[in-house]
Parts: sequence; C-alpha cells; structure tokens
Amino acid sequence: MIRRCDSNDFEQIYSIINEAAQAYKGVIPADVWKEPYMSKDELRHEIEESILFWGYEEGEKIFGVMGIQHIQDVTLIRHAYVCTTKRRQGIGSKLLFYLRDQTTRPVLIGTWGDAIWAIRFYEKHGFRLVTPEEKDRLLRKYWSISERQIETSVVLADPKWFSTYS
Ligand SMILES: CC(C)(COP(=O)(O)OP(=O)(O)OC[C@H]1O[C@@H](n2cnc3c(N)ncnc32)[C@H](O)[C@@H]1OP(=O)(O)O)[C@@H](O)C(=O)NCCC(=O)NCCS
Repeated sequence: MIRRCDSNDFEQIYSIINEAAQAYKGVIPADVWKEPYMSKDELRHEIEESILFWGYEEGEKIFGVMGIQHIQDVTLIRHAYVCTTKRRQGIGSKLLFYLRDQTTRPVLIGTWGDAIWAIRFYEKHGFRLVTPEEKDRLLRKYWSISERQIETSVVLADPKWFSTYS
C-alpha cells in the first residue's frame, strides 16, 4: 500500500533513508559522504521546505519512501529510498508511478552522478539526463544544495520537461 507519511512516520523515514543511503558509501566522492547520510535536523528541514513524503507499506512497516515537491513551475521527486533487502522488487517503480500521477507539471529528479543504478532506474521510467549546463542551471534554480553537490550531481527530466523547455 502507498500512503502519505505523517509526523508519526518520522523515525521510519529517517531509518529507511539512512539504511538505503549506504548504497552511496564508497561510490559517491568521499567528501560528500557522511554518516548518518541525512541527520534528523536535515530531514525535519526538508519536510518544512514542503517536501511531502509517501511510503510503501506492508503490514504496518514502511519499506520505501519517496518525496515530492512542487516548486515554481515544476515538480521535483526528492529522496527516493527503498530498503536494501526489498530492492528490485518494483517498490521504487510503484512509488514513482504514484507520485508522477499527482502532478501535471514537468518532473525533474536530481541524483548523484555516480549513482548509476538510480540513473538506470529513472531512465527505465522515461526520464532522460539533461546536459551538464542545464543541470547546473536547474539545480541552482530549484534546489538548495552546495556547489560541490551541484558539481557531483546529475538531473533527469521527464518527456514533458523536454517538450516544454528544450
Ligand atoms: C533507486 C531505488 C529507489 C529503486 O528502487 P527499487 O525498488 O529497487 O526499484 P524497482 O524494483 O522498482 O526498479 C528496478 C529497476 O531500477 C534499476 N535498478 C535498480 N537497482 C539497480 C542496480 N543495482 N543496477 C542497475 N539497475 C538498477 C533497473 O532498471 C531495475 O530494473 P530491472 O530490475 O528490471 O533491471 C533503490 O534502488 C534505492 O533505494 N537505491 C539506493 C538509494 C538511491 O539511489 N536513491 C535514489 C535517490 S534519487
């Protein structure tokens, strides 16, 4: 079942993000890796910045989370994480499908350039990488992240974004 997460789910969201983010360890540049990957304060800040989290739940336990953020003229998919033991079973796809259905705006996704699996995942769902120049511009326009994160990230866009803006 997919449902909106609320304040009661905070600890579960926090655990899933930090467990699933272990995938980045030793893969993304060492200077952008930290543990926990996302602190509770950072997660609280993201929620306050109007990221709405949705969870994939089985038997009252959440196994995957994905956030959606409507900002200016686009929708961002933020913080997509599925528990390590539940990967490649379609949970991420179900969450992405569900969230995409909630917007009519072009959808953008940012991820680490080294997270090849995540890029493949989004490409499988029809997203395409934007050019490096466009990526820098989009990350500055819609995200609040460090210059180093901009440098080491990529942006994928859905067909609607490409037909509207490129
Ligand atoms: C990216 C993620 C959310 C996908 O969730 P998921 O439930 O595993 O994805 P699904 O089972 O719905 O889809 C699997 C597809 O994604 C891609 N994929 C997922 N993991 C992959 C891997 N390790 N290598 C290559 N492709 C991979 C493939 O296209 C795969 O399809 P296939 O199994 O038919 O080859 C999940 O792998 C994850 O949490 N990863 C760690 C954190 C992360 O990278 N998050 C993205 C942040 S933007």
